[in-house]
Amino acid sequence: MAGNKTFTMIKPDAVKAGHIGAILNQICGAGFRIVAMKYTKLSAQKAGEFYEVHKERPFYGELVEFMSSGPIVAAVLEKDNAIEDFRKLIGATNPAEAEEGTIRARFAKSIGENAVHGADSDDNALREASFHFAGTEMF
Ligand code: RTP
Ligand code: MG
Repeated sequence: MAGNKTFTMIKPDAVKAGHIGAILNQICGAGFRIVAMKYTKLSAQKAGEFYEVHKERPFYGELVEFMSSGPIVAAVLEKDNAIEDFRKLIGATNPAEAEEGTIRARFAKSIGENAVHGADSDDNALREASFHFAGTEMF
């Protein structure tokens, strides 16, 4: 999937606030094709595994608690230059610094509860996609 796929989650804050439809609309409007999609909830253990790279960071406990606090939408998306273009579409981690019109500027509440996740490399997108989806669930 190198180069043209990324992995995303609509996080529990945005789901709770009723923003699934608007966020998917913005993603599809920006030219991403949905390859796989699932409405699900992470256990604390699964959230911990997913964000294992941040294990030593001070916000890890909070992040795991938040990501397992309610349902999420997980998806694999396809577009040329997917990783970079999707990071641009979602905006900076801290919504206060996110460019106007980006998903985080529009829908995120804080640096911790920031509406969406976007994979940051081809390798991580692949790892994260296979974390959530079997090969037979990607089209
Ligand atoms: P993500 O992985 O979710 O797409 O976010 P990101 O790349 O923009 O940011 P990253 O550094 O990977 O951090 C992962 C998630 O941890 C939470 N966080 N909280 N309280 C804090 O200072 C803090 N810093 C990061 C956010 O939910 C962030 O998206
Ligand atoms: Mg990240």
